[in-house]
Amino acid sequence: MDEIIKNKNIYIQYDSNVFDNFSDKLFNVDYITKERLIKSEIIGRGKTYNIKHDGKEFILKHYIRGGFASKISHDNYIFDSIASTRSVKEYNLLNNLFAKDLPVPKPAALQVIRNRFTYTCDLITCKIKNIGTLHDFIMKKKMTSELWNSLEFTLKKFLKESVYHSDLNAKNIIIDEQSNFYLVDFDNSYFFYEKKLFMKSITRLERSLSKLDNYNNEMAKIIKRFN
Ligand SMILES: Nc1ncnc2c1ncn2[C@@H]1O[C@H](COP(=O)(O)OP(=O)(O)O)[C@@H](O)[C@H]1O
Ligand SMILES: [Mg+2]
Repeated sequence: MDEIIKNKNIYIQYDSNVFDNFSDKLFNVDYITKERLIKSEIIGRGKTYNIKHDGKEFILKHYIRGGFASKISHDNYIFDSIASTRSVKEYNLLNNLFAKDLPVPKPAALQVIRNRFTYTCDLITCKIKNIGTLHDFIMKKKMTSELWNSLEFTLKKFLKESVYHSDLNAKNIIIDEQSNFYLVDFDNSYFFYEKKLFMKSITRLERSLSKLDNYNNEMAKIIKRFN
């Protein structure tokens, strides 16, 4: 069940079924650093923290802007309504996809901090015990034909449920020990009306894979089967 905490300019929402003892301090990087809750840092677009709390592992992400907007502001977004903030939208979408049994992280908590006309935000998801990203696996020559089949199977599930991932790249696709693939990082993603959009996202993924060492057109073959 979702609980909401409102405190002046801060809005926090968390799933009380996920946490035995929720603490809003989990969003505070100084606190989690001092308390040694950080297991590791993952450098992606921004910095993501793998944290341990009450014996469970989570991923904390601070939203930062990409592209041209990042030159104007690093992490401030224009505020419209709580429902339209980046973290609320990703949290809700992940909840929806998780309920449909799609392989995505379970959302755990989110924070929005308002500052007059703008806001910054963060998201905590339950960590998926993974053994690497698609990027790592291709580079290290660990992609077998079984794994490519498993990836195709996973992407088909997202197509079937009309899910458009706005930043589908080899680092947002992770693999667990049972050779299951998961998609992460659903910022700005949504349900699509036209399959064309989904095809565009997997074509973009293929283009990014084609720049990697040890990639042998496997994704291009998968795309042909999607047409
Ligand atoms: N729930 C999760 N479980 C395991 N790994 C995750 C999870 N969420 C993110 N990651 C890892 O952290 C990386 C960065 O997170 P992501 O949400 O993609 O942020 P960014 O916006 O910085 O790309 C991902 O590429 C993935 O490897
Ligand atoms: Mg990412």
